[in-house]
Amino acid sequence: MAQTRRQFLHQVGITGGAGVLYSTMGALGLTTAAETPAFAAPTRNELNGRGRKHVVILGAGIAGLTSAYELGKAGYKVTLLEARQRPGGRNWTVRGGTEEKDLHGNTQRAGFSKGQYLNAGPGRIPQHHVTLDYCRELGVAIEPFVNQNADAYLYREGSTSLSGKAIRHRTAKADVYGYVSELLAKATDQGALDSLLTATDKEALIGFLGSFGAIGNKTAGFAYTGTGRRGYEVEPGAGLEGGTTASPYPLADVFASGVGNYFSFEFGWDQAMMMFQPVGGMDRISYAFERAIGREKFVYGAKVLGLRNTSSGVSVVYSTGTHPRELKADYAINTLPPHIAATVPSNLPADIVSALQYARPGNAGKIGIEYGRRWWELDHRIYGGITNSNLDLVNMWYPSTGFHGERGTMVGYYNTGANATAYGALSPAARFQRAVAQGTKIHGEMYGKDILASFSVDWAGTEYSRGSWVGWPSQTDGVYAKLLDPTGNIYFAGDHLSHAIAWQHGAMVSARASVSALHSKVMSR
Ligand code: ALA
Repeated sequence: MAQTRRQFLHQVGITGGAGVLYSTMGALGLTTAAETPAFAAPTRNELNGRGRKHVVILGAGIAGLTSAYELGKAGYKVTLLEARQRPGGRNWTVRGGTEEKDLHGNTQRAGFSKGQYLNAGPGRIPQHHVTLDYCRELGVAIEPFVNQNADAYLYREGSTSLSGKAIRHRTAKADVYGYVSELLAKATDQGALDSLLTATDKEALIGFLGSFGAIGNKTAGFAYTGTGRRGYEVEPGAGLEGGTTASPYPLADVFASGVGNYFSFEFGWDQAMMMFQPVGGMDRISYAFERAIGREKFVYGAKVLGLRNTSSGVSVVYSTGTHPRELKADYAINTLPPHIAATVPSNLPADIVSALQYARPGNAGKIGIEYGRRWWELDHRIYGGITNSNLDLVNMWYPSTGFHGERGTMVGYYNTGANATAYGALSPAARFQRAVAQGTKIHGEMYGKDILASFSVDWAGTEYSRGSWVGWPSQTDGVYAKLLDPTGNIYFAGDHLSHAIAWQHGAMVSARASVSALHSKVMSR
């Protein structure tokens, strides 16, 4: 079963509430002071004359990198312990030569051509996220990420006249908006809303619906009969060629097909255009952080074996090979995924370990498929964007970069929850075959041709992440909140400790909050 938008949002951890409330308040002009206080990065001047504090940071994902960067700028000594051999955590760009063994025992080596890549984790950045501020500050070039495209497809299996066909977003929108407008105009005109609307209101509403749905006037019965908004069978052209439009799909089928159910995705606070991606891959952010922090502050391949508060600071035991080492520091910022942090032997109190265990890791999966021909541009005239389906592949992304180039890498599936886990359970070869078989239903035989390479990721099966992002049964019942305060000299940070779970922004603002709290404590001594 394809997951609904609501299920998706549940997994993302942004089920309406805060986001909707926030944007509604914004529209009403009510938000000024109630949000997270503006971040004031600690500065070297403030620390002047104080002993230089050493902060050990567990995990060099985006929260760890942000913490180390801000603390480093202020003159703190930082050490990052990272189990992987690279920075970024889930910010992971797979390129030619990337090799990964997953927890299922599959080893993949990506054969992508030079310049081709898959952003296996984060792939898009909204305009309002601080991620873009760090891109600016760190000199990471960005380019638009095409999150909506009127010419991408919607595909729904079912038993209507739209089912099993690749329908352009624009066609589906024209019909859905057209029929909704027709029905509402008729109901309004017939008096069905008289208890709610004055005559003036009704006139204004019907005026709006005329343009929103491109429907006929009252004499025409407010009928929706289709327009060029749907697209053309014969496009308008030179001389006398005015274009030919097809008739709309039947009203009942338009709604029964579910083809309108994806439109609201782009209304989301975090999913509306414009959106961006770093030029060359999302990991440009991680490596820019690494450079700015200083490569010598990182210990890669470091597995954390123990974490303790001590009377004077913290003690971390880790191993990069055979023999464990102990690192003593003044403070720790623990950015490990909560379900993994909970398994690290420590002297954290039981209620803190329980709070870490309260997080529920979800799953997501993606496959990158590199083609030797940009058939989506050449044959379909699709330049970036997303095709959404009710197949278990759910979403496909056309590349937002390299237009008119020789090659391009599609995201052949991006799904979450049970769909991701179903793909993850397959071998990489079987994932690829399934993705191609399903993509062929939407795009035709071309979908299986000119393929140069592929690489798939199953986040639940990925060591050191063991999930895509977490959800909390509640973020208001007091359990989650325990992790927002330090426990002794140990602070926590990560997107899981924010209301922007599953976004780098969440990791960054959480890191900033922990850095601010840690710095206040240092300044108060
Ligand atoms: N932030 C993630 C996305 O945009 C969940 O897909």
